[in-house]
Amino acid sequence: MGFQVLGLGETDFALGLDFLLKLKAKAQFSFLSSNIVDSKTEKPIFEPYVVREVRGIKIGIFSVIDSSFVLPEGIKVLDSVATSQKMVQELSSKVDVIIALTHQGLAKDVELTQKVSGIDIMIGGHDKQHLDQPTQIKSTLILESGDQGKYVGVLNIFWKKGSHFNSEMETVVLDQAKLAQIDEKLSQLRAMTKDDLVARQEQELLRQKWDLEQKLELMKAKGNSYQHELVALDLEAFGDGDKRVFKAVQAFKKSLASIQKKGVAGPSLEPRVTQQGNRVEVATYKKCSVCHKEQYDVWKESKHASAVVPLYIRNQHLNPECIVCHSVGFHEPGGFKDLGYLESFLDKTLGKKHKGSMVELRDHPELDQKLRRQYVEAIEKAPFKKDFIGVQCENCHSPRGVKDALGQELPHQVETELPKKVVAQSCLKCHTPSQSPAFNFEKDLRILGQRPLGEKDAKAPFHCKVKVAP
Ligand code: HEC
Ligand code: HEC
Ligand code: HEC
Ligand code: HEC
Repeated sequence: MGFQVLGLGETDFALGLDFLLKLKAKAQFSFLSSNIVDSKTEKPIFEPYVVREVRGIKIGIFSVIDSSFVLPEGIKVLDSVATSQKMVQELSSKVDVIIALTHQGLAKDVELTQKVSGIDIMIGGHDKQHLDQPTQIKSTLILESGDQGKYVGVLNIFWKKGSHFNSEMETVVLDQAKLAQIDEKLSQLRAMTKDDLVARQEQELLRQKWDLEQKLELMKAKGNSYQHELVALDLEAFGDGDKRVFKAVQAFKKSLASIQKKGVAGPSLEPRVTQQGNRVEVATYKKCSVCHKEQYDVWKESKHASAVVPLYIRNQHLNPECIVCHSVGFHEPGGFKDLGYLESFLDKTLGKKHKGSMVELRDHPELDQKLRRQYVEAIEKAPFKKDFIGVQCENCHSPRGVKDALGQELPHQVETELPKKVVAQSCLKCHTPSQSPAFNFEKDLRILGQRPLGEKDAKAPFHCKVKVAP
């Protein structure tokens, strides 16, 4: 795939050191770790660092993992801060740029930049997060590109020998955001009929814009600069570049899907029995729509309803790891047994050519809307009694299919144990920091049906726009 170096993490040792050493022998790139050592001799087991030259710039790369990880017997992890300090001392006279590949999570990366200066770029992992843009602390950039091959982080650096990132660069990023806001306001003003007030406002904005642009140019000239992008593994994004990575990931996901098809099916999960002696199970949206048409009509337009669409695009619609948050009742009492119906239904409804196409739907709003509409129209017509796919009423309101001990259906209101309120916690089960980094129950504008900056088509994901409980 064109790799040059690999920074080891603790799970790489899951099958033992011997296995890892065999892989290393086959690999055509370096396996790095500066703080994984032999416990007796304290000598490094892997290369502690490498130096590469790119267009006349010398780059030194080292790698550390969290010192608290426990590795197989005979292997020891040295303190990551002390080791990094040593590496920086050793490398700084030899190279122009120092890169640390860390495997310890963002919080510890931040701590490391505070304790050790001289690292220009820190590429982190382990906590499965991704940062849309690097976090800059003093003159160190921290990057994280997420897990499971969702993104490739691309960082272009513009480097003058002897200088580093401008430690005031953080304000540049803020200023750039301000600039974008000004542009947005300007275009709004331009759409209005011109009167004196509008003309004056426009002039004022143009002046602010000019000042900011000047300031930005000055700041950029002061230190090295960069451009960063997280590229989703999307064929279009690769353009004419190396498609092998994309193809390999696509093939991997395909073979994973065929294994998963077997994995999702399992024994039916028994309904929960309440103190009143009733049995509560997932009823799914078809049932709710009978009595709550108004809520159903809002829900079916939301991305929650069609949350299987982006999974299908990635050929991950049968992956239990994804389904858990993109469906209802998975591995829960009264939840679903198998998704045997799903594959052929989706193939027919969405069209096989989209399966595994890896298109980033957010970047293709027309296709996104078209597929979601097709999907919702199809489920409305489908003869399913129950369909567990998509984020549904009962993800937020808890399962509400109630039967008495004899199996007779009861109205859900008779069951006193059902939660009456939807609280932030209901959302946070799925909107975790790693899956939904922008999510903030109080502040996420999308929740209120308002459109965040730069997004064109956000909608309130449910009917209850005004009544969200704290
Ligand atoms: C047979 C009709 C019927 C069905 C089916 C039905 N509901 Fe209800 N639901 C009601 C009635 C009646 C109320 C009480 C309305 C009121 O108090 O204004 C209610 C109230 C609610 C409430 C607000 C009060 C509470 O208990 O939290 C929620 C939420 C709710 N239903 C969700 C659902 C969901 C989810 C489904 C599908 C699993 C569903 N309902 C299916 C009739 C139904
Ligand atoms: C079962 C998991 C789950 C729960 C519970 C859940 N969500 Fe979501 N939510 C998702 C998924 C998955 C998506 C992305 C769907 C897609 O893009 O296809 C999403 C998307 C969204 C969006 C973006 C919608 C858009 O049009 O851009 C918002 C806003 C949102 N959820 C808010 C909430 C709120 C508020 C709650 C709690 C009241 C909540 N969600 C509960 C899984 C969940
Ligand atoms: C912990 C719950 C959770 C898990 C597990 C999860 N997702 Fe999601 N996913 C979400 C939420 C929540 C959103 C909405 C994010 C937002 O808009 O803030 C989302 C959004 C998405 C989107 C963006 C939709 C779009 O195109 O705009 C894609 C794609 C996606 N998920 C794919 C996956 C895949 C593939 C997996 C399995 C490898 C997965 N998800 C596992 C909760 C989850
Ligand atoms: C993303 C989470 C979410 C989903 C999905 C969802 N709801 Fe709600 N629902 C809420 C919240 C939040 C409230 C606000 C009231 C509260 O605090 O419980 C609410 C309120 C309600 C109410 C009370 C009356 C009202 O409109 O405020 C009913 C009835 C209801 N929902 C039914 C449904 C049905 C039926 C579906 C599926 C078609 C559904 N909900 C899907 C989150 C959700």
